[in-house]
Amino acid sequence: MEWNGQKAREAIEAFAFGPEELIAAVEVFKSEIGKGLAGDAESTLKPLPSYLGLPTGEEQGEFITLDFGGTNVRAEHVRLFGGGKYVQAARVAKPLIVPGRYNHAGRGASAAGLFGFLAEIIDAVLGGDHETPYRLGHTFSFPSAQDSPRDAKLLSWTKELAVPDVEGRWVNERLNEALLSRGLSNVRPTAILNDTVAVLLAAAYQWDGVAIGSIYATGFNACYLEEFGGEKQPMVMNLEAGNFGWLDQNEYDLALDAASEKKGEQTLEKMVSGRYLGALFSRAFGDILGETFPAVSGEDLCRIIQGEGAALLRRMAGIPLTDEQIGECVALAEAIVRRSARIAAAVYVGTFRHILGNAALGVQNIAVEGSFFTHMGIARVALRDALQEILKDEAKYVQVLHVTGGASLGAAIAAAMIEG
Ligand code: BGC
Repeated sequence: MEWNGQKAREAIEAFAFGPEELIAAVEVFKSEIGKGLAGDAESTLKPLPSYLGLPTGEEQGEFITLDFGGTNVRAEHVRLFGGGKYVQAARVAKPLIVPGRYNHAGRGASAAGLFGFLAEIIDAVLGGDHETPYRLGHTFSFPSAQDSPRDAKLLSWTKELAVPDVEGRWVNERLNEALLSRGLSNVRPTAILNDTVAVLLAAAYQWDGVAIGSIYATGFNACYLEEFGGEKQPMVMNLEAGNFGWLDQNEYDLALDAASEKKGEQTLEKMVSGRYLGALFSRAFGDILGETFPAVSGEDLCRIIQGEGAALLRRMAGIPLTDEQIGECVALAEAIVRRSARIAAAVYVGTFRHILGNAALGVQNIAVEGSFFTHMGIARVALRDALQEILKDEAKYVQVLHVTGGASLGAAIAAAMIEG
């Protein structure tokens, strides 16, 4: 095995996402939203209705929330006081997979096992209280069809989940069955919503002028409030931005896609979200060394970028890499993350362009939640730079708000909005 310097430079270049690509992506993203809303089957974006508008900020009550996102499952006890005030308490969180112990995410998992696991976590957050009645807000972070905010039918797993017999099923109905068989008839699943919608609701509960809700974590996605030109009630629409299909994939993107659970789907997400960037790095690193390597984790990718990954990279390669070669690895990791953030910027601005048409931008807030985005400083800088590059003088109007706990808070708000 040896380091191929030429390949290293080509790999870094393969992840470039230049100014023309950036501007083109904004335009195509905007037009795909319009086509998707008009029901054009060819559009790779099919905005999904949430049947929720924005909260007033005065919603109140005590709720149990469940956040089922793809890596961890969290249940919380949330109290809303109105006036944008709330308390989140009694949190129980468990990973969907603990290697060697259990796996509630893969092909070998079962729907009964998964929903039983969700009910077990809800039971734990209640401390075994099977008496006090609670309404449950459920953040379910996968593309789902709804005809009300009360239940959602899973259209397709994403983020490599593959549990059989859940696609095409009503999720809250299954959850309710699992709660009943655990003796939790006091907990009533009331609302179900996408995590991006939860983030938008959570932000709008506290601040004015929030236009977009987004998750930039294991998965990537965004939602916004669609006004429907005043014809119908405004409604938050889940864009399922990760499925946008008009970006040029390089050889590593194509190889990653070919080895994924859902080939040809979620191609933007596979270039942007934390679930995949470590795998892209490992593929390119392997190509440079003529080997194959398992995906590095998001945390390791972070370490590599911060210049703390030399030992890891040398151990992976099994040969003594020079400092210069380690420097090229850092540049490769940076290029992967920078491309991710530039694509995210194109999604946000494309969505603004859809919302505003030809009107001037004005003050706009984007509420973003996600461990990847929070921990990856370079992604935040690259996003800001890309917004500046696209919007020029207007970039000063756009604020990126970092939200934490939005998935649970938004779920409680949704439950309050329905019954309120
Ligand atoms: C899902 C979205 C979700 C996003 C962030 C994607 O894989 O399709 O519904 O919002 O991940 O969790």
